[in-house]
Formats: sequence, structure tokens, C-alpha cells
Amino acid sequence: MQIPLIQLFIWASCIQASSFRHVQSISPPTGSVIVRPDAQPAMGEFSNLGDAVNALPADSSSQVVFVYPGLYVGQVNVSRPGPVTIMGFTPNPLDFTNNTVVLVHNASLATGALSDDLTGTLRLLSNNISLYNLDIRNDFGVALTNGQAIALSVQADQVGVYGCRLFSYQDTLYTNVGNNVFLRSYIEGAVDFIFGRHSIAYFEGNTIASRGAGCVTASGRELNDTGIYVFDHNKIVAASDAFPNVTGNVFLGRPWGDFARVVMKNTDIEAPMNKTIWSIWNPGDERIDFILFAEFNSSGPGVENANRPNFSTILTGDEAAQYTLPSIIPNWGDWVDSGFLL
Ligand SMILES: *[C@@H]1O[C@H](CO)[C@@H](O)[C@H](O)[C@H]1NC(C)=O
Ligand SMILES: *[C@@H]1O[C@H](CO)[C@@H](O)[C@H](O)[C@H]1NC(C)=O
Ligand SMILES: *[C@@H]1O[C@H](CO)[C@@H](O)[C@H](O)[C@H]1NC(C)=O
Ligand SMILES: *[C@@H]1O[C@H](CO)[C@@H](O)[C@H](O)[C@H]1NC(C)=O
Ligand SMILES: *[C@@H]1O[C@H](CO)[C@@H](O)[C@H](O)[C@H]1NC(C)=O
Ligand SMILES: *[C@@H]1O[C@H](CO)[C@@H](O)[C@H](O)[C@H]1NC(C)=O
Ligand SMILES: *[C@@H]1O[C@H](CO)[C@@H](O)[C@H](O)[C@H]1NC(C)=O
Ligand SMILES: *[C@@H]1O[C@H](CO)[C@@H](O)[C@H](O)[C@H]1NC(C)=O
Ligand SMILES: *[C@@H]1O[C@H](CO)[C@@H](O)[C@H](O)[C@H]1NC(C)=O
Repeated sequence: MQIPLIQLFIWASCIQASSFRHVQSISPPTGSVIVRPDAQPAMGEFSNLGDAVNALPADSSSQVVFVYPGLYVGQVNVSRPGPVTIMGFTPNPLDFTNNTVVLVHNASLATGALSDDLTGTLRLLSNNISLYNLDIRNDFGVALTNGQAIALSVQADQVGVYGCRLFSYQDTLYTNVGNNVFLRSYIEGAVDFIFGRHSIAYFEGNTIASRGAGCVTASGRELNDTGIYVFDHNKIVAASDAFPNVTGNVFLGRPWGDFARVVMKNTDIEAPMNKTIWSIWNPGDERIDFILFAEFNSSGPGVENANRPNFSTILTGDEAAQYTLPSIIPNWGDWVDSGFLL
């Protein structure tokens, strides 16, 4: 167990302009709040993540919550003023397959949630939140109507998601507000499972897994504002437990809003895509007039013999070079954990 940490430490100390903060991953950083299944309340520990988060001081101080291995059931809202880091115990922060902490909730519009956002297992409602090595699941599953069931809802600025795994079917990741980064994580779903209206979201080094027929992204951008989803060096696969109808029915995106904007660079596309790669919103309500659905250097069996529609764009190298982490989030160096960049 010591070897990876030492390697990480050496590697971290080589990084310039460091914001690599995650050297502690098997023991709690000094001053952190502890969550574990066999918590000792007399020691100030919590057995429930929501209770721990709710007990943090409602002030501008930075707080760290360290979560020991286990399954934690129930919704968690984060809404205090100051920065919050929630880190799951792991022997290997850069590899989500080694995660040990699972957060689970089961809610959807069909189970009576009053809004899509309120279905979320983990809801981030205040700025400056970092999540490390958490598996976040909404286990509602599949429904023909009202199946929206969010695992992670991000309604906040300066949110970093590192080495996490997000699981649901419809609407897994709601990246809706502020500047958000998703690095070396796993995002699974089938229908519109990366979606939102206003955020500037950057994705690098993630595995994105499709469980059934549907669109990976549903950008809901409604105005010509700064909102954009930029993906660089991600992999798109069929989930190991995908339904048979995944074959031929995966699309990179459809436009929830008329100004939908999604750029996918250097994507390894292994999933069994529909040949058109990108979709309209719905027949008769296409929403394609002002969109940017763009790729650069897509590769893999999913895009062999593709027959893309004329509302999608293949970028030149020069055009693609305009869409980078620094170009869309100029102050990224102040808050993004660069140790999780490729
Ligand atoms: C999270 O916030 C929503 C909206 O305020 C509330 O309805 C819900 O009960 C909260 N969840 C928990 C576990 O406190
Ligand atoms: C991480 O998980 C893989 C299997 O998924 C395992 O082979 C490896 O030993 C684990 N690494 C550590 C540091 O526990
Ligand atoms: C938190 O985020 C806000 C909005 O992005 C920013 O203005 C502020 O400086 C941040 N605060 C801290 C303590 O990092
Ligand atoms: C989630 O809840 C719904 C309805 O309340 C139920 O039908 C379903 O079996 C539950 N799923 C899981 C995985 O618990
Ligand atoms: C894909 O298959 C699942 C499981 O059979 C089903 O629930 C879902 O409705 C199907 N999706 C479509 C778009 O047909
Ligand atoms: C591709 O998508 C179109 C439009 O939804 C659909 O009609 C067609 O059957 C799909 N192709 C395959 C191979 O499933
Ligand atoms: C294209 O993407 C692949 C990875 O998918 C990468 O190895 C290669 O360097 C990229 N080519 C260019 C021109 O960026
Ligand atoms: C959006 O605004 C940019 C400049 O801010 C402009 O170059 C572009 O043409 C506008 N796009 C649309 C569809 O109006
Ligand atoms: C784009 O394709 C559609 C249908 O495939 C066609 O009706 C339309 O005229 C085309 N538009 C342009 C600008 O080529």
C-alpha cells in the first residue's frame, strides 16, 4: 500500500504549478471530518455522509470529509458557503476501479421527486467542491416515462470531480451551472446522461459507458452564452451490463437547447454507435439551427463507416486547438487538481 503513495508523492513533486492536493488517500488529512460505517460518535465521527456534511460549520472555512470504505445510503446535499472536499478511501486515486466508497439513492420523477435535480444522489449547491474517488449511484433503473434519475447534480462553480464513478440510466450527470471539470472518472447511463443548460464543463481521461439506446450528451444551451461541453481524450464504450438495444443506437448527443454546444476531441469511440453519430432532438422538433456538434480526431470501431448529418462539424486541427481547458476555464490553475490531468 505504501508503494503507490510514494510514487504519487514523487510524481506530484515533479509537477509545476501544482494544484495536486490528493497525496492522502488511505488516511484522513489532519482536521478532516471522518465518516465510516462503524463510526464512533463519541470521537466526533459519522456513519452517514449526509450527517457529516450537514454538521460542517456554515462559514467560509475549507473543510475536508474523509470517507472510509463502505456503502452509504441516502441523498446528500452540499450547500455550505466555504469549500468542501469529499474524499473516498482508496489505495489508488488515479484508477476509479480501486474505489471503495459507494453512495446510493433510488429516486426518479416516477418515484415522486418534484424536479429532476431533486432526484440526485449527491447534489452540489455551493461553490468550490472537490470530489475524489466516490462511486455515486442512482439505482432507480429504467422506466418508459419519467425515468429521469440523477446520480450527481452540479449547480455550482469551481467543482472538480476526480476518479469518481457515476451510475444511472437516464440523466446520470447534471452539469448545469458554473465551471466544472471531470477528470479520470467513469460516467454510465443510456439516455441524455451528461446534460445541463449553463455550465462550462471540461472532460478529460474519462470512460463514458452507454447502457442502452440513447444519447451521451443533451446540451441544453438556450442562448449564445459561454456554456460549452469540451471533451478531450475520453473513451466511449458499451457498459458491461448494457441492454441489447445499445447496438446501433448510441449517439454522441442531441440538442436539448437550440444553442447546444458539444466539442469532442481525440475520442476513442468503441461503443456501437448509430451511423449518424449525432441526433436531432426529436422528429418535428429538431433544434439544429444554432448548434455546434463538433469532433476532432475521433477514432475507434464506433465511427467506422459513419454517415454524419450536415448539422455536425468535423474541426480542423487549428479549429480544435481553440477548445482547451485554459481557453474555456481561464482560472483553472487556481482550483483544478492538475494531478488528474493526463
Ligand atoms: C436535499 O434538499 C432538498 C431540497 O431542499 C430537500 O427536499 C431534501 O430533503 C434534501 N435532502 C436531504 C437528505 O436532506
Ligand atoms: C486496483 O484494482 C485492480 C483490479 O481492478 C487490482 O488488480 C489492483 O491490485 C488494485 N490496486 C491496488 C493498489 O489495490
Ligand atoms: C469559491 O468560488 C467562488 C466562485 O467561483 C469564488 O469567487 C471564490 O473565490 C471561491 N472561494 C474560495 C474560498 O475558494
Ligand atoms: C427503486 O424504487 C422503485 C420504486 O420505488 C422500485 O421499483 C425499484 O425496484 C427500486 N430499485 C432499486 C434498485 O432499489
Ligand atoms: C432499451 O432496452 C431497455 C431494456 O429492455 C428498455 O427498458 C428501453 O426502453 C429500451 N430503450 C429504447 C429506446 O427502446
Ligand atoms: C440509427 O438511428 C435512426 C434514427 O433514430 C434509426 O432509424 C436507425 O434504426 C438507427 N440505426 C440502427 C442500426 O439502429
Ligand atoms: C488522435 O487521438 C489519438 C487518441 O485517441 C491520439 O493518440 C493521437 O495522437 C491523436 N492525433 C492527433 C493528431 O491529435
Ligand atoms: C455567438 O456569439 C459569437 C461571439 O460572441 C459569434 O461569433 C457567433 O456568431 C454567435 N453565434 C450565433 C449562432 O449567433
Ligand atoms: C442538410 O441535410 C438535410 C437532410 O439530410 C437537407 O434537407 C438539407 O438541405 C441539408 N442542408 C444543407 C445546408 O445542406
